[in-house]
Amino acid sequence: MSTPSADTMKREAAQAALAAVTPHMKLGLGTGSTAAQFVDLLGARVQAGLKVICVPTSERTRAQAAALGIPLTTLDDLPELDLVIDGADEFDASRRLIKGGGGALLREKIVAAASKRMFVITDATKEVKSLGAFPLPIEVDRFGAQSTQLNIERTARGLGLIGPIIQRRNKNQTPYITDGGHYIYDCSFGAIDTPELLAERLAAIPGVVEHGLFINLAAAIFVAGAQGIRILGNAI
Ligand code: 5RP
Repeated sequence: MSTPSADTMKREAAQAALAAVTPHMKLGLGTGSTAAQFVDLLGARVQAGLKVICVPTSERTRAQAAALGIPLTTLDDLPELDLVIDGADEFDASRRLIKGGGGALLREKIVAAASKRMFVITDATKEVKSLGAFPLPIEVDRFGAQSTQLNIERTARGLGLIGPIIQRRNKNQTPYITDGGHYIYDCSFGAIDTPELLAERLAAIPGVVEHGLFINLAAAIFVAGAQGIRILGNAI
């Protein structure tokens, strides 16, 4: 069997998760190319009459969803959601994730925490034994960012994690700024043996706004691969 293209797998994962959407659901909409496929498919269902209300996790997703006529609101008006559907940069067998490759990790985590369930849509190439092959994004307040970077470095070293911590930049080399107005540092630590401990320590650093370790958040992961869709966790 030939391996489907990356776009086909993203579409298949998005299609499988769409089956969980029922009328009048309050939905979170993720960010990234896989989540964008979901938003496209949802847009078609809305145009065909499906009633849902959605909170996007980024300005990019907001613009896409608005252009498709998907009804949108904010967490201020709707603080509790039924389900968020989002992509991931990496996942392991315990449904721990690295997210933030698309720069939306802060809003993605807030929306996931506000949702009864989080479904992740992804493909088999992103499954790892240990998280960390994908550089861990950390969102940092601009004030004192260099000091915060040093603090991240020291904290990681304390857990035996050593590797480049690079400030994310745009193509023109200006600093990348998130929707929340912060910097992102991409940390190439390699295999993270104790993600829970790292998550706890990073969250305690002043100036760290949020990190891209998503632990105990994903209820189910829809993994597209050559054999079709495999579901990790509980999608019911
Ligand atoms: C954005 C994210 C995305 O979900 C993640 O980067 C995956 O993106 P893609 O579906 O394009 O591979 O965390 O902040």
